[in-house]
Amino acid sequence: MTDYKVRQLSQEQDLLVIVSTYGEGDPPQPATGFFEFIEGRKAQKMDGVRFAVLALGDSTYEYYCQAGKRLDQRLEELGGHRLIARVDCDVDYEDPADAWISAVSDQLAAEAHAGPPLTAVTQAHPIATAPSAYDKRNPFPAPIIENMAIVGRGSTKETRHIEFSIAGSGLVYEPGDALGIAASNDPAVVVDLLEALGLASETKFELKGQVSTVEEALTHRFEITAATPRFLDYWALLSEAPFLRQLQEEDRAGERSVFLRTHHILDIVRRFPVRDVMPQGFVAALRPLQPRLYSLASSLCATPDEAHLTVAPLRYGLHGTARSGVASGLLADRAEIDTVLPVYIQSNQHFRLPANDAPILMIGAGTGVAPYRAFLQEREARGIAAQSWLFFGERNFRTDFLYQTEWQGWLKDGTLSRMDVAFSRDRADKIYVQHRLKEQARDIFAWLEEGAHIYVCGDAANLAPDVHEALIDIVAHEAHTGREAAEDYVRSLQADRRYQRDVY
Ligand code: 2AM
Repeated sequence: MTDYKVRQLSQEQDLLVIVSTYGEGDPPQPATGFFEFIEGRKAQKMDGVRFAVLALGDSTYEYYCQAGKRLDQRLEELGGHRLIARVDCDVDYEDPADAWISAVSDQLAAEAHAGPPLTAVTQAHPIATAPSAYDKRNPFPAPIIENMAIVGRGSTKETRHIEFSIAGSGLVYEPGDALGIAASNDPAVVVDLLEALGLASETKFELKGQVSTVEEALTHRFEITAATPRFLDYWALLSEAPFLRQLQEEDRAGERSVFLRTHHILDIVRRFPVRDVMPQGFVAALRPLQPRLYSLASSLCATPDEAHLTVAPLRYGLHGTARSGVASGLLADRAEIDTVLPVYIQSNQHFRLPANDAPILMIGAGTGVAPYRAFLQEREARGIAAQSWLFFGERNFRTDFLYQTEWQGWLKDGTLSRMDVAFSRDRADKIYVQHRLKEQARDIFAWLEEGAHIYVCGDAANLAPDVHEALIDIVAHEAHTGREAAEDYVRSLQADRRYQRDVY
């Protein structure tokens, strides 16, 4: 959508849109220009344009698939003709997305038959398939060969370095790619949930044509932590709890999202108990357990047959109970050397080293530094002599300087040209990576002018927008232009794929 010339919209014959949703029902950042145009006053009539929308979302959020819903409605308002009904996909999007793709292709192919001969509908960009038998649907059982804390004693963090062996899998990846881990739920949470439901762990029931125990299903098949609006609907119906019924009302959206943020499935089940819950009905209200993705911290050139990760376990408390992230808790608390976990490669074409030896500016905080370790391993192994500059942020210098000796080694041998660090909790006033960027504004701008590629990895909520703002400021200041011209400059870096983000 970033690249699409919006003025062509009314001239299109068939418009197929796949769009995800971000934040409070907004389009993702690269689609904002497209949305502003189409939802704005300048939008042209779309009579004669046929369209279909595939909406991607996450049903744990209140504004599920909202960007797709907005677009679908707007295209109709503008006079477009809907080819097939919109399909909304949850995080397990594969099957409904496949169904949508087949339905649109069939529709277009049928018409192509009826009308003048047309070439068959083909994929514009055939998806590169790895030569491996293992993928998301069939993950590879990979043994852990290293799992250690990489923060010093007394750190406020628990960041770990974890290595998997992928020997014999045929799995290949490039720096920038992620490892998907099909983790299972914490057995302690499963036990608590079964108890709250009054179900015996061996209770058997039929699940997709197979007999399963509830314990097995809740451990390996379904998300059992965060509750979704759909789960809330189900539990409100079952429990007949007036409080939950109220939350279902249309104008209670605000209260509902606060409630969902602060109550896991277990909390809801405990607070509004129901007797004799049927396992079948219960799991039907849950979402399939999704693999968790971690940016790879290694390069196959440097460590063939291995996949390294940098993981900071997610820890939080709810209703007086300590909780952990599904995969990060497993990796930190229950995975040992030789523990085998199902993994696959999730390629990320939007976070790639330059094809040539262009300079790279790498900005990362916390575990966001992981892909840069992969970048430098790759450049070192390939003997690419090019400029590189790392900006790394963490809490404390003494304990949290992740991979410190590796960066220092690379600085010494020239694989890494420059490094700036921002330790935010070593002094009273906060210092973040974007402050370091601004201190180096002149050189940053010079690097950009020389064709540098810029990468941002880490926190999506605060770091990414703050760094984005800093870049605009730097360009405005150094190029002596106004803010708008600086925004255009940064936007064109994105369009040229010279400014890439991997944020979560
Ligand atoms: P803080 O936790 O001391 O606020 C990794 O988590 C590092 O990123 C920490 O040093 C953290 O600082 C910092 N950080 C927090 N918010 C940030 C932001 N908006 N921009 C950049 N760095 C941030």
